Amino acid sequence: MLTVTHLSKKLPDGKQLLRDINFSVERGEFVAILGLSGTGKTILLRCLNGLTIPDGGEVILNSNGDPLRITGSNSSRMREIRQQTGMIFQNFNLVKRRSVIENVMIGKLGKIGTFQSIFRKFSNEDIESGHRALERVGISDLSHRRAGTLSGGEQQRVAIARSIIQDPALLLADEPVANLDPTASEFVMEHLRSISIDNNISTLAVLHQPELARKYATRILGVRDCIIVYDGSANISDNDFKTIYGSTYNASAE
Ligand SMILES: Nc1ncnc2c1ncn2[C@@H]1O[C@H](COP(=O)(O)OP(=O)(O)OP(=O)(O)O)[C@@H](O)[C@H]1O
Ligand SMILES: [Mg+2]
Repeated sequence: MLTVTHLSKKLPDGKQLLRDINFSVERGEFVAILGLSGTGKTILLRCLNGLTIPDGGEVILNSNGDPLRITGSNSSRMREIRQQTGMIFQNFNLVKRRSVIENVMIGKLGKIGTFQSIFRKFSNEDIESGHRALERVGISDLSHRRAGTLSGGEQQRVAIARSIIQDPALLLADEPVANLDPTASEFVMEHLRSISIDNNISTLAVLHQPELARKYATRILGVRDCIIVYDGSANISDNDFKTIYGSTYNASAE
């Protein structure tokens, strides 16, 4: 579904950030990306949806039998790629002054921007699908609230509902629970996992909580010193965590 080969990226000062990264992700896999701060996890995710152009290598998204080469695509292909790729951010990225349902409908636009005409553009059926997405994440009663008045956990569920109606093949989540308390984090991880399974979405989530990766992911990728040092089961050993985080990592402190 997603294939990354020989991906490399240097920083503007010439320092190597990612070197010869190779992995592929199948439909419905839930992959947690772990690694120390500054190892290039965000840049790696950005290379997967074309927001950052790597120095070398290839990223190919093949969700419907028509392989889309993310690296080096022209702008109309990039639009197609972005439509097939949902994004979830640590700061939720909602339009705070707009209602919850309006924010969800953005998922149908393919791109954020043409917001003014939003309700003229959508059929009742589309809007109904927005309400159903809110129901799925358990916040249908909040549909007319201004997004900015919601708690962080609720806002992240709006962002997930927005992804549900976008109907992406690939969902990229960069620290989706970084700003949430443990209970809200579990809720959000549950929803991400269930849409990945029910909608057959491949999810890649950067996490700083190894215990959540262990619990919710089907697979873990560990990034360290420019390369992938772990690619395997989410049932990861303490030694593997040390490979990712360094020898001073203390599993019992988690
Ligand atoms: N536009 C840029 N110009 C220069 N350096 C950059 C740029 N973007 C990122 N970097 C650097 O690249 C490195 C990797 O950044 P990245 O954001 O991918 O790390 P990360 O693994 O996501 O870290 P964290 O876990 O803290 O979010 C960092 O040292 C960062 O300062
Ligand atoms: Mg990051």
